[in-house]
Amino acid sequence: MSSYLISNVSVVGAAPTDVLIRDGVVAAVGAGLDAPEATVVDGTGLVALPGLVDLHTHLREPGREDAETVESGSRAAALGGYTAVCAMANTSPVADTAGVVEQVWRLGREAGLVDVQPVGAVTVGLAGEHLAELGAMADSAARVRIFSDDGHCVADPRLMRRALEYVKAFDGIIAQHAEEPRLTEGAQMHEGEVSTRLGLTGWPAVAEEAIIARDVLLAEHVGSRLHVCHVSTAGSVEVLRQAKARGVRVTAEVTPHHLLLTDSRAETYDPVYKVNPPLRTAADVAALRAALVEGVIDIVATDHAPHAVEDKECEWAYARPGMLGLETALSIALDVLGPQWDLIAERMSRTPARIAGLEGHGLDPAPGVPANLTLVDPAARRTIEPAELASRSRNTPYARMTLPGRIVATFLRGEPTVLDGKALK
Ligand code: DOR
Ligand code: ZN
Repeated sequence: MSSYLISNVSVVGAAPTDVLIRDGVVAAVGAGLDAPEATVVDGTGLVALPGLVDLHTHLREPGREDAETVESGSRAAALGGYTAVCAMANTSPVADTAGVVEQVWRLGREAGLVDVQPVGAVTVGLAGEHLAELGAMADSAARVRIFSDDGHCVADPRLMRRALEYVKAFDGIIAQHAEEPRLTEGAQMHEGEVSTRLGLTGWPAVAEEAIIARDVLLAEHVGSRLHVCHVSTAGSVEVLRQAKARGVRVTAEVTPHHLLLTDSRAETYDPVYKVNPPLRTAADVAALRAALVEGVIDIVATDHAPHAVEDKECEWAYARPGMLGLETALSIALDVLGPQWDLIAERMSRTPARIAGLEGHGLDPAPGVPANLTLVDPAARRTIEPAELASRSRNTPYARMTLPGRIVATFLRGEPTVLDGKALK
């Protein structure tokens, strides 16, 4: 195996030092390291972070390989600084059996760009009627620990309770897409002043908040772990704050787009801004940012949702919800949080790795630790050109925006997947 000496690099914002990688692990961290056999990567001006971990990625394979594949999504992830992603179950067929989750896991290994950890569906076909074979998915080679019907809410409270009870045996997690379907029928965007003006059916904040409130009570009752996907409202933050204060085993994520964009984007009628949950108000954005800093929201997760051109470049009402996220997440975090490297490492690497139980990920570079890390140039600014993205889809809401930060290199178990900002496979 190869060795790399990253010279003069700031590890998570600290004073510059050298990092030596050998045989897949960090061999040493310290100033003036000497390793004649190693390939030198000049880290001057760069920040080394533990490789980013995304708890919420849609890779679209099997079924919609025109929009993304495990390989293309893995490449997008590596270019975004990620070393591990959790692949959501709303594929076709749905990842609701040991066979499908093993297929996704194997495709991830073959691509070899990031660790792909499949998420299993909670219910058969995401239909919300019968529990999927959670135990078989947990026991499979993919070792599934997170289950989610994401894209759909597990709306039936009895089913949600049973799912929480089932996964308790192996300390699994139910990741809920919190959306009371009876309150969002026909919804096109956030319900509020802008939706009223545009005459579009609204998606009320309470549709999210009501499910989170119910689910924290169910998780508390059962004693199981609940994870709340893409929290988008100030009211949800308050429900989570109270639940955490009571000691409920709940974690929560926020997406980069909900930290940056508001429902006023819908005024353009450009479906690139259509997403589920919808973009909310400036007050919600402010509450989400504060909650992320405070820790009421534990992590940033991308909800990377690639869609083919025909599913996105059409009338708003017919467009699929979702936005690309993997290749821009770190830049948005830097824009929103500033160079708070320890906070960024905590919310985008250490905590998501811990929640998902991904061994060897989310660890700061230190001797003996698997060399999963990313190098960021915080001074660089780049203009997002959709055609230059590695994703097979083009639905980024940041097209032609100039964003701070650039991923220079990503290492997966000591081997670069990205160098000089370019993917190596
Ligand atoms: O906007 C979204 N897109 N939200 C989801 O929950 C699902 C996702 C998708 O699969 O496209
Ligand atoms: Zn989602």
